[in-house]
Amino acid sequence: MADSINNNRAQFATRLGIIATTVGSAVGLGNIWRFPYEAGNNGGGAFLLCYILCIVILGIPVLCAEFAIGRSTQSNIFGAFRALKASGKWHWVGYIGILASIMILSFYSVVAGWTMEYLYQSIVGGLNFKNIDAFHSHFSTFSTSNWRPIMWTVLFLLCNYIIVVRGVKKGIEKMSNIMIPALFVLLIIFCINSLMMPNASEGLTFLFTPDFSKITPKVVVSALGQAFFSLSLGLGTMMTYGSYFSKDTHIVRSATITASLDTLVAILAGLIIFPAVFSFGMSPVQGPALVFEVLPSIFAQMPGGQIWSILFFFLLFLASLSSTISMSEVSIAFLSEEKKMSRTKASTLNLAVALVGGVLSALSFGYLSNLNFFGLFDINFFNFFDFTSSNILLPLGGMLISIFAGWILERSRLKDTLTNGGKIGVRTFSLLVLCLKYLAPICIMLIFLLGLGIF
Ligand code: PFF
Repeated sequence: MADSINNNRAQFATRLGIIATTVGSAVGLGNIWRFPYEAGNNGGGAFLLCYILCIVILGIPVLCAEFAIGRSTQSNIFGAFRALKASGKWHWVGYIGILASIMILSFYSVVAGWTMEYLYQSIVGGLNFKNIDAFHSHFSTFSTSNWRPIMWTVLFLLCNYIIVVRGVKKGIEKMSNIMIPALFVLLIIFCINSLMMPNASEGLTFLFTPDFSKITPKVVVSALGQAFFSLSLGLGTMMTYGSYFSKDTHIVRSATITASLDTLVAILAGLIIFPAVFSFGMSPVQGPALVFEVLPSIFAQMPGGQIWSILFFFLLFLASLSSTISMSEVSIAFLSEEKKMSRTKASTLNLAVALVGGVLSALSFGYLSNLNFFGLFDINFFNFFDFTSSNILLPLGGMLISIFAGWILERSRLKDTLTNGGKIGVRTFSLLVLCLKYLAPICIMLIFLLGLGIF
């Protein structure tokens, strides 16, 4: 069956543009901020091993499925399930995606706001401390303050709004074409610098030598969540991007390259952070503060540190923006294409909800840090949004998408899309179907049960 092509829909201009844009969504704070702190909290090598397994066995197949469904239907997640005449409640996967995208946008904007503060401080020379303790107290004073993090969160959400309200494709493609290669170059330079620090080898051992006794249900659940978060999977973002692919885009190859580059960035971030952590004599278990304490300390020791710091935080800010633009598209496409709202109204509504979530998340480190639900349990909005979206909603969405692609979508249509109507050979087709039909749903379900303590 031929793909239904809607000629009015924007398409990416070049092959590099496709890769740069999908990598632009995938690469962001998830790789550079979240991966090191999750790896630090979950035993280093044990976490990395589980993470890579999740990317290869679950991430790449689900990414192929999202791309294929998106390109085949040329539609957002709701329209896609409708176009494929999915009966029943399949559009609920779209609602899961919207909920996840709003939650992620809320806490992600806070961290992107921290990036803006560090960019600003680098420019005005406010990060000239001599030791890691000074960076530690600088971060905790800043992040627990009641107005500065909120100010940056709001500013970041406004930047995001200005871009998404205009409709996005051309801008992101151009920006990602430059930003992603530049980020790579910087990361490689920092990596070489970290590897030359005293005791760097302890950091390498921590990251690359898995201690199997550390593989607990929590580590596996976190690795699964990190894999989906990092690949922007399970909420329809990559489906929307797949809908902008041209008819001759090689889906399996694009998915594999995107996942490989994304994983490479995460590993590079680990190679920068952990040698430095051990060199400074710190513990890797620092939570969300890890990268914001370690990276500026590294820059402070490098010749020309201020320039490196400005360049890095600027690129990280752009990388965060290309990720939030892609996640905003999930709810904006729903409101504008399904609910027929104007793009401006849809973007404004998305902004309003994210502002509430963003302020609650920003205050989770300061004013709301001791919030308690009627004395029953503590509420930390930042952690709640992060945990619920990454570790529950995204894998759940991914599981449903793989079940859909493996069991409901006509096999001939899937094959036709993946092989571009038979023009290219996809040798891994049967393996991919096996993953989508059995492996991904079963593994994700087992990991959920494991996480709930049912095993
Ligand atoms: N993959 C992004 C990162 O690693 O920073 C985060 C993300 C973007 C998650 C877009 C979900 C999404 F839809």
